[in-house]
Amino acid sequence: MTDYKALEHEFGLILQARRDLVAVRGQGACLYDEAGNEYLDCAGGIGVASLGHAHPEVVAAIQRQAETLITCPNILYNDVRSRLLEKLVSIAPPGLGRAYLCNSGAEAVEAALKFARLHTGRKHFVTAMRGFHGRTMGAVSATYTPKYREAFEPLVPGFGYVPLNKIDRLDAAVGDDTAAVMLELVQGEGGVNPVQANYIAAVQALCRERGALLIIDEIQTGFGRTGKLFACEHFGVEPDLMCLAKAMGGGVPIGATLLRGDIEIAPGLHGTTFGGNPLACAAALAAIEVYERDRLPARAAELGDYFEAELRADELAQVRAVRRLGLMVGIELRHKVQDRLAALLERRIIALPAGPNVIRLLPPLVIERAQIDRLVTALREILA
Ligand SMILES: Cc1ncc(COP(=O)(O)O)c(C=O)c1O
Repeated sequence: MTDYKALEHEFGLILQARRDLVAVRGQGACLYDEAGNEYLDCAGGIGVASLGHAHPEVVAAIQRQAETLITCPNILYNDVRSRLLEKLVSIAPPGLGRAYLCNSGAEAVEAALKFARLHTGRKHFVTAMRGFHGRTMGAVSATYTPKYREAFEPLVPGFGYVPLNKIDRLDAAVGDDTAAVMLELVQGEGGVNPVQANYIAAVQALCRERGALLIIDEIQTGFGRTGKLFACEHFGVEPDLMCLAKAMGGGVPIGATLLRGDIEIAPGLHGTTFGGNPLACAAALAAIEVYERDRLPARAAELGDYFEAELRADELAQVRAVRRLGLMVGIELRHKVQDRLAALLERRIIALPAGPNVIRLLPPLVIERAQIDRLVTALREILA
């Protein structure tokens, strides 16, 4: 049998530690290795596989579109792209009247930063400590964690970082030259930290008062993950710009930056070759239809409540706290998580860390109750 692990190590760059698992097939909330062993995917493709793997409607949409038109440059109009743009605006928080399509989360963030500078004529940005916005030079400049940034300096200048949920610190940081404040509503990589409702309301008011734009990064929280289609809906936030990616395409790479209707960007100032290609757009249209039709945001809310009630974390000696919105779950331990993640993998459950001592769970929103029971049983065993 071919040694796929050896091939990746010899010919690839291993930039993220690999689990000891070669995934060759996926179905619903499960992944399968070469021997056909089944794993419960509670990493959910790091937030991508919210519809589960190989969702039949996404598969059919990709097949149909591949036979019709795979690529179409942005010098031409396209039927599928135009329908996706209309759909995105129709489901977005109020005020977001247009969308720019790209291929990943970092690209959606880059576009948001550039659009904010263009629209305001200002240069500075404020983001949150423990926030994460991606790995390209602009997105990593917006990302607080020094280990992601420092090796790449000099970065894009003009970024300041403030602690989440402390409005006085934001008040001090936003000035006349602040183009935008950019935040996640639940920090994902940073430890599953939700914003407080009164904080985000005050952030929005402060941005409006000082003429800074509010960029909400919904790359991890979007498309039902938190129990609403967008986390903005929990808090009544009306961002000026919103970044999307991950679960948007039902597994296919696609991202988007949504803009307030009156923000004009002149042609030629930004662009993309692959962004808005019909294949990815068809997948996203199919995926969004399933999120809505199957009421997956509500399902995330219900199953998240069920999970937390069944887990009974107060009985688990190793658990310090559970932070959760919908099916975006962080279990903070009293110690480091790596050996607990390994213990889960031994029980054929794939999970993620978020920082040194938080287990992060992003299961597909189509996960079954019986599969949640299996997850809970394993967690109760390894965290007692
Ligand atoms: C909140 C957030 N923003 C941006 C990104 C970057 O997205 P991508 O990896 O698609 O570039 C991520 C990825 O984890 C994310 O969680």
